[in-house]
Amino acid sequence: MKITFSTKPTAGDTLVVGVFEGRQLSRSAGKLDKTCKGALSKAMKADRFTGAHGQFLDIMAPVGVSAARIVIAGLGKADKLDPLAVQNLGGNLAAHLNRGGAKKASVLVDKWSKASASKAEADQAADLGYGARLRSYRFDKYRTKETADKKPTLTRLTLVTGAARVAATAYNVLDRIADGVFMTRDLVSEPANVIYPESLAAQAKTLTSLGVSVEILTEAKMRKLGMGALLAVGMGSARASRMVVMRWNGAPKSSKKAPIAFIGKGVTFDTGGISIKPAGGMEDMKWDMGGAGVVIGLMKALAGRKAKVDVIGVIGLVENMPSSTAQRPGDVVTSMSGQTIEVINTDAEGRLVLADALWYCKTRFKPRFMIDLATLTGAIIIALGSYNAGMYATDDKLADQLTKAGQATGEGVWRMPLGTRYDRDINSDIADMKNVGKGREGGSITAAQFLKRYVGTTTWAHLDIAGVAWSKSDSPTVPKGGTAFGVRLLDRLVADHYEG
Ligand code: BES
Ligand code: MN
Ligand code: ZN
Repeated sequence: MKITFSTKPTAGDTLVVGVFEGRQLSRSAGKLDKTCKGALSKAMKADRFTGAHGQFLDIMAPVGVSAARIVIAGLGKADKLDPLAVQNLGGNLAAHLNRGGAKKASVLVDKWSKASASKAEADQAADLGYGARLRSYRFDKYRTKETADKKPTLTRLTLVTGAARVAATAYNVLDRIADGVFMTRDLVSEPANVIYPESLAAQAKTLTSLGVSVEILTEAKMRKLGMGALLAVGMGSARASRMVVMRWNGAPKSSKKAPIAFIGKGVTFDTGGISIKPAGGMEDMKWDMGGAGVVIGLMKALAGRKAKVDVIGVIGLVENMPSSTAQRPGDVVTSMSGQTIEVINTDAEGRLVLADALWYCKTRFKPRFMIDLATLTGAIIIALGSYNAGMYATDDKLADQLTKAGQATGEGVWRMPLGTRYDRDINSDIADMKNVGKGREGGSITAAQFLKRYVGTTTWAHLDIAGVAWSKSDSPTVPKGGTAFGVRLLDRLVADHYEG
């Protein structure tokens, strides 16, 4: 689907106009109602449509216009139309138009919100296009027999506004973020016979075309560096492990500060290893590289929109398999930090990977902060469900910034506690620590405490995204499947606080 901006609707397009809660016509809707001899008012009266956000009403074969269809879109209350609501409207609209079989549509955008100036109208148009594009994502490359009547119909959505050029410029930035989101969704959706450590590293490598420098560490290199924790996880797999370092240097020369860093768990498939998982639902573990996928997509978004910041992305890539070469429960491994770990459960592998990735990132780059993302625990799904990621932070300011970025993007984070009593639960009798806590209680927290032992004094936040990386149902801007949760959140964090 193409998103375009224009000052005039295209003849023959499906026409979309907005109506506020209480059936209040927007300026364009009012004009169109007159042109069509009251068809809009009449249709609304004949229907339950009230103008609530999320409602749509189709008027087929209206008189007085070239359009074969008019769609009235409920805008809700004007004072509730913030950017996120407009993005959701765009997403819902794209889905509605596809359901109805519309091929090309022009949306008559007015200054709907109370905000002043034509900038507001331009931003609204851009946000509508952004939401529509985000919702239009599909992972259909392996569906070879899907018939045309099952495929989406909408090929072009035009946002019509007097400020079309300003809107197109604003959209260009959002479009680059969507590129990052789509790349993450693709990577997360790919099965594990296609995406494994080496092929995922190769995908990260494609970012060089955007000016990102990409370094790939082989097993030999990691062995030399002493990454015994990460390497132990990959030992059972025929696929070789990798670590990838991505760097985007966008900060202006005048303001060189230490870089910021994002670290991702990239377990390309998690069988659990010798502590093997049950068969039911194990296919989900193809998306256990979701954290790494988000870091790659985030780097793509930041480089794509030429963010004025120096960023490091580090991802640890392994496949967790059971075999005669796999690590065993009870094994003791030595991490790059020198700290030893008793591996009680080989299914608690993500923290082993991150232990070395975090330590490596911290010692090599001395970043201003580190934020890691990981589909780390089932326990966080029990705690928070699928509407918020679990957030752990050693710094209140960073935690607040993340919370606000979450509210602005709809990618919510909920702060979870850290503390010495949880930390004590991972002490081991024979090593510096063990990789699980006491039973299942506080499972996401003890995992976070484990990671904390590898960040030293660096400002750090950890996002447990196990509950939000994959969605079983559609939401306005996120079709079911890989969500890319974290790309929009962290792009926003950077844009609001760390550029320039
Ligand atoms: N990748 C899983 C966590 C997970 C579970 C992600 C379900 C998404 C959906 C992780 O490696 C894992 O297996 N964690 C264990 C830890 C336990 C053995 C301490 C868990 O949560 O059960
Ligand atoms: Mn596991
Ligand atoms: Zn895992």
